[in-house]
Amino acid sequence: MSPEIQFRPYSREHAPILASYALDEVYCAHEGWAYPSDPDRMLAWAERLADAPSDDLVRVMAFVGDDPVGYVDFQGDDAQEKELGYAIAPSSLWGRGLGTAAARAALKHGFTSLRLERIWAEAVEANSASVRVLEKSGMRFLRRGDDARFLGVPSHYRQYEITREQWMAQQSSPDALGA
Ligand SMILES: CC(C)(COP(=O)(O)OP(=O)(O)OC[C@H]1O[C@@H](n2cnc3c(N)ncnc32)[C@H](O)[C@@H]1OP(=O)(O)O)[C@@H](O)C(=O)NCCC(=O)NCCS
Repeated sequence: MSPEIQFRPYSREHAPILASYALDEVYCAHEGWAYPSDPDRMLAWAERLADAPSDDLVRVMAFVGDDPVGYVDFQGDDAQEKELGYAIAPSSLWGRGLGTAAARAALKHGFTSLRLERIWAEAVEANSASVRVLEKSGMRFLRRGDDARFLGVPSHYRQYEITREQWMAQQSSPDALGA
């Protein structure tokens, strides 16, 4: 059964959780974060994100019950269209269906709570888990994006999108999502 993800608006109380991701070497390598990093600097960064949120970024923390499992964000200055980003952390949680569940919950949040009309996302092709998350979320391949490296491997972005109309059609016909 798919894990049930719930979102809570990112706030100062979540800053230590976000900062702790910087202690996870595997996570840092996949995100392209420097490792090791200064924990105090990371905490200050995570607190700033809560204290002075950018108008262009909506971040929510993902929970299963009371356990934090990562975050999802919506980025961009267009009120109707946003870029979806997501991360599951710590990396010991990967491979349990949380990324797929978080992306699906994020689309629901984007189209219902945020009233978006279109959501897009991109993943580096060599990041197979992330590509798979986007494909399983119901988003459609749009185009090849810029060249990028992932874990030292030369690759490129794959961009995906979904409109509110397409998402609503999938809700009335869940089989269309596949497994
Ligand atoms: C990408 C990420 C969100 C995936 O989270 P997750 O909880 O492991 O995702 P899931 O368990 O739902 O797995 C999704 C799919 O990827 C596959 N997968 C998981 N790890 C994999 C790996 N290392 N290599 C290839 N496929 C992998 C799973 O088998 C699953 O496919 P399946 O259902 O066909 O079996 C997580 O690895 C992460 O947060 N990475 C760091 C941040 C990041 O890359 N964010 C995306 C930026 S676009």
